[in-house]
Amino acid sequence: MRIVIGNDHTAVEMKQCIKEYLEGQGHEVINVGTDSSESVDYPVFGEKVARAVVAKEADRGIAICGTGVGIGIVCNKVRGVRCVTCSEPYSARYARLHNNANVLSFGARVVGQELAKMIVDEFIGTEFEGGRHERRVNMILGLEERF
Ligand code: RB5
Repeated sequence: MRIVIGNDHTAVEMKQCIKEYLEGQGHEVINVGTDSSESVDYPVFGEKVARAVVAKEADRGIAICGTGVGIGIVCNKVRGVRCVTCSEPYSARYARLHNNANVLSFGARVVGQELAKMIVDEFIGTEFEGGRHERRVNMILGLEERF
C-alpha cells in the first residue's frame, strides 16, 4: 500500500518511527514533512496529507501533530477526506470497517510509539465492510456536496 505521512514539529521522531515501521512491512511511504524540530504550522502539513489522498497519490494518509486534533481538523476540511483522530486501536479499526476513513491522525504527545503502531496496524490492515455502511458514507459525501 502507498501511504502518505505528514506532521508538525512535535512529531518528527514519531513520524520517523511509524515510517520505518510501515516500510518494514513492505509499504511505500511518502513523507511530506516536516523533518525539522523548528516550529511550523500544522495546517500546512495536514493539507499536504489530505491533498495526496484525494489526488490518489496515496491509498491512505497519516497525519501527526501534538494532539492529533488540529491536523485532523485540517484534513477533514478537504473534500473527500474522512479523517479519524485516534488514541487507541479500537476506533481506528471501526473507522475503517464502518466509516471507510482514509486518513488517520494521532497525537505524538498523547500516545507512545508502541501504542501508535497498534493504532496504525488497525488503520492500515482493516478493510471497509461496505453494505449498510456504504449508504452512510454516501450520506457524508452528499453532505459535502451540499456545503
Ligand atoms: C503545537 O504546539 C500544537 O498546537 C500542535 O502540534 C497540535 O497539537 C495542534 O492541534
